[in-house]
Amino acid sequence: MSSQDTSNKHLPEFKEAPVPLETPGYLRKLYWWAYEHPRAVAFWDNPFLINVILLGNYNRLTNAVLEEFPDGISGDMLQVTCAYGKLTPSIEARLNEDGRLDVIDVLQIQLDNVRSKLKYPDTKVRLIQCDATKLNCPDSSYDYVLLFFLPHEVPEDKRRQVFAEAVRVTKPGGKLIFVEFHKPHWYHPFRLYQRLVFLLFEPYATDLWRHELTHWFPEGHGCQVVQHKTYFGGLYQKLVVQKSL
Ligand SMILES: C[S@@+](CC[C@H](N)C(=O)[O-])C[C@H]1O[C@@H](n2cnc3c(N)ncnc32)[C@H](O)[C@@H]1O
Repeated sequence: MSSQDTSNKHLPEFKEAPVPLETPGYLRKLYWWAYEHPRAVAFWDNPFLINVILLGNYNRLTNAVLEEFPDGISGDMLQVTCAYGKLTPSIEARLNEDGRLDVIDVLQIQLDNVRSKLKYPDTKVRLIQCDATKLNCPDSSYDYVLLFFLPHEVPEDKRRQVFAEAVRVTKPGGKLIFVEFHKPHWYHPFRLYQRLVFLLFEPYATDLWRHELTHWFPEGHGCQVVQHKTYFGGLYQKLVVQKSL
């Protein structure tokens, strides 16, 4: 079973994932070395490396998420896919008494890695194997849905599905939080370097230089932008949208 029984009736209900859950083609083809290979986690889950990849902005971008919760997190939050580093343990540390976090990822190796960093796995935080394009939970399940550097790794058709699912499972009045790449100023000193990295390793990422994130939202999504902030000369962004009541 992909979800754990925490005997709390208010928890969003997650159905069992079809077994075995297939690794999406783009992930296996392009990112096996980053996420799927047994040695990937040991190599890449390294604070120094992650910070280098994000050009020294790792703390700033994790803090961009935490800043949304100055009084801690109450209610149900969904993190759509694992991330290396301290993001999930930091969110866990922000959970109030009545706050809970579900983390989904298609790769069990990634969920196991996050589990090893948590204080309260299976109670305050559930780890659920699931494809982000098909969340096996009811509509309007979560108060907060977080996508941290996922959309740029996903091809456009799948990105639309991921966004549609993220909007679907957000409660009316709930918020979706995105932290992602963004088109930098033309004179940004790292613009060419970043473009080269995209060209070599992240073929879908330049989509985020062509469009704002809302471009891939489903039609009639009923969400309003409540905050859009860029960082580091526009190379990164945080977008917060609220689903209408
Ligand atoms: C959040 S993204 C990038 C995070 C960022 N590069 C980091 O680690 O800090 C990486 C994760 O997304 C997961 N992933 C990619 N496509 C997915 C999908 N369709 N469904 C669920 N998980 C997916 C990968 O397995 C991986 O664990």
